[in-house]
Amino acid sequence: DCPYNLTDCNRIDCIPADGMRRALNVINRKMPGPAIEVCHNDIIVVDVENDLMTESTTVHWHGQHQRGTPYMDGTPYVTQCPILPESTFRYKFTATHAGTHFWHSHSGMQRADGAAGALIIRKPRTLDPHGQLYDYDKSEHVMIVTDWIHELSVSMFVDHHHSIGDNKPPTLLINGVGRFRVFNETTEPKYMKAATFNVDKGYKYRFRVINAEFLNCPIELSVDDHNITVIASDGYELEPITADLFKITSKNTSTINMCNNTFYCWFTKAKQVAVLHYEGAPDVEPEGDPTWEELHNEGLQLNALNKGEEENETISVAEMRSLQVPHKDNRLYTPQLNHISMKMPASPLLLDRPSPDNFCNMSSISEDCKEGYCECSHVLSVKKNAVVEIIIVDEGVTFDANHPFHLHGHNFRVVGMRRLANDTTIEEIKAFDEAGLLKRNLKNAPLKDTVTVPDGGYTVIRFKADNPGYWLFHCHIEFHVEIGMALVFKVGEHKDMVPVPPGFPQCGNYIPDHMGDDVL
Ligand code: C2O
Ligand code: CU
Repeated sequence: DCPYNLTDCNRIDCIPADGMRRALNVINRKMPGPAIEVCHNDIIVVDVENDLMTESTTVHWHGQHQRGTPYMDGTPYVTQCPILPESTFRYKFTATHAGTHFWHSHSGMQRADGAAGALIIRKPRTLDPHGQLYDYDKSEHVMIVTDWIHELSVSMFVDHHHSIGDNKPPTLLINGVGRFRVFNETTEPKYMKAATFNVDKGYKYRFRVINAEFLNCPIELSVDDHNITVIASDGYELEPITADLFKITSKNTSTINMCNNTFYCWFTKAKQVAVLHYEGAPDVEPEGDPTWEELHNEGLQLNALNKGEEENETISVAEMRSLQVPHKDNRLYTPQLNHISMKMPASPLLLDRPSPDNFCNMSSISEDCKEGYCECSHVLSVKKNAVVEIIIVDEGVTFDANHPFHLHGHNFRVVGMRRLANDTTIEEIKAFDEAGLLKRNLKNAPLKDTVTVPDGGYTVIRFKADNPGYWLFHCHIEFHVEIGMALVFKVGEHKDMVPVPPGFPQCGNYIPDHMGDDVL
């Protein structure tokens, strides 16, 4: 057995994760990385020491808005210079958004190789409208779930071809461990110990579940013989909704099944189990391979606990299409936004504050970009305090993937979402909207910071641009953001933005890369 705290790990014998040997990229020799658990409005100080020999890094505090400290957002080339090897950077910011969040590396594919951990921000029970729904004094559980491949995720760049490539994660991990067996292997399978969550009978427990989704998998969760009530998402309270989930008989030791419902992970039937262990019950490991069960395909309808206020506001509309076009020679399909593949600027926008002539957007690109491949620094400027509506359309051109979109620096309301036929175009959806058929729910639209866009469908979100700065908006699939499925919102004017503190690290003065996409 390998403890998932790798500090205790004998470097030669220890096989972490699911027992399949591979290289990792971890923080403090732990996977998941060290949890940060603080109280609401505490100040968090983290010194990040980059001990990677050749890669730079940054850390993003997913779900925190960095109001007043936009330069602590951890987005390389947007809010800071990457932290070079053998260098240190101190993050210091206020934990303004209570709830279950996570931190992760925002550089390259490091998150997919293990550089992520929980970020739990507690508020007093009296301030939790759902404080009565769980036994507050009982320990609560944090569950980080990820999809998992058996090699360094940079290998996705070698084989990733959405139409034929084998880029589908074969398995999942729960709190960094899992059970996996290579099929057709003649030797006895070696099962790692499943993650275990201890409970006492008769209490209601709060589980904080984080899908750190390294690569491609939305995840479904069920607990044998138990119901789950969903009370919050992305740190925002919801109308509680109880899911009637899978039941497989077992006494006292229940199995927690994780599986998922989209093509990628369905294809490989990726699944994982953990153990819900009752105090006093014998220690039992699940037997055999985790079984794959198809759970809810449609998901749950989430409603915000508090009503929206946007009905009377003026809306500026930023339309956006997300689609895939073949890259050169059809070697690689590149997800783009409005025909643009994001090329990061040579130095951080928030430090440099360049003139808009350096940016591109849908109205400035050439017609050719609609057919071929274009990359540039895609920045959309929005007025301070504007309510911005974004219709994100997945034209579902090439393959089946739901893209989870994340907005930095703000939350948003999810006012619409629908799955349509696979090749529905944005023109059709616009016509649909003009005919009044694109319905918006403004009443109890859930507040979120990340939302999925169904394959061949649309999601409509609205956010109030009240946090001046440069903020990334991107697909949260690690591979997709790395190959350009991102853009930046410039919120407000430079005069509205908090100045970067004196002595804030600057980048070097290398000549910017003018080679475009040739390097791919
Ligand atoms: Cu959780 Cu831009 O990321
Ligand atoms: Cu994506």
